[in-house]
Amino acid sequence: MISRPRSIVVLTGAGISAESGIETFRAAEGLWANHRVDDVATPEGFARNPQLVYEFYNQRRRQLLTPEISPNAAHSALAKFEHEFDGEFLLVTQNVDNLHERAGSQNLIHMHGELLKMRCLNSKLVFDVSEDFDYDTHCRCCRSAGNLRPHVVWFGEMPLQMNRINSALENCDMFVAIGTSGNVYPASGFYQTAKIRKASTVELNLERTGSSFDRHVRGPATECVPQFFESLLRS
Ligand code: OAD
Repeated sequence: MISRPRSIVVLTGAGISAESGIETFRAAEGLWANHRVDDVATPEGFARNPQLVYEFYNQRRRQLLTPEISPNAAHSALAKFEHEFDGEFLLVTQNVDNLHERAGSQNLIHMHGELLKMRCLNSKLVFDVSEDFDYDTHCRCCRSAGNLRPHVVWFGEMPLQMNRINSALENCDMFVAIGTSGNVYPASGFYQTAKIRKASTVELNLERTGSSFDRHVRGPATECVPQFFESLLRS
């Protein structure tokens, strides 16, 4: 029997979007099987070959915007829970897709950035983008080319809004990680921060990862996320 928390932080990873048709990173046929992380997800890779990096994110953005890709039952269950829950709720996603917001989630942090945003290297201003862009695209603030990069956090860079995330983790009494392998720091350490503050920690994943959560629920996100959050609302 789960007791109803007063404050909950949920972390999601690529596994929650897998059943929407977006590939995860570390599956056998995942994104990192077909692309070198150093080439497409580091500042050094961008400096070496910006065109390759632009094309990687342009392709992913195009895929996200096809009609076949839409939020699934797990994204919707989290939005419903946030709407009906009377305590504090923060959703932190490592995903750069927009499926949580399309499902209706509101208190949401994209700690690894967003595919549908680009950033000016000079002003650091962030702009919405739904089309391809590259080295030749003119920036909306500087009006010149060569200044735009994807608003995505690369390896070696600081994830976004960490102060807000840490403060929520330190004050929550339940932490739930969904569809993440726990390979990438600092997200992989969130459950430990929550545990130190005596929060209960739960993992919902297709398979058990190496992290020691208090509870592990195995199954596809579209099944176990709606079940878990419905039972939390009833508790
Ligand atoms: P991974 O690809 O590392 O892990 C995906 C996790 O989702 C695995 O643990 C799978 O078991 C699980 N999974 C797959 N399908 C599922 C399903 N249908 N239901 C439930 N779980 C499922 O992706 P992340 O952990 O999100 O960062 O990766 C973390 C970060 O590494 C990403 O944000 C990205 C990447 O490099 C950056 O690029 C900075």
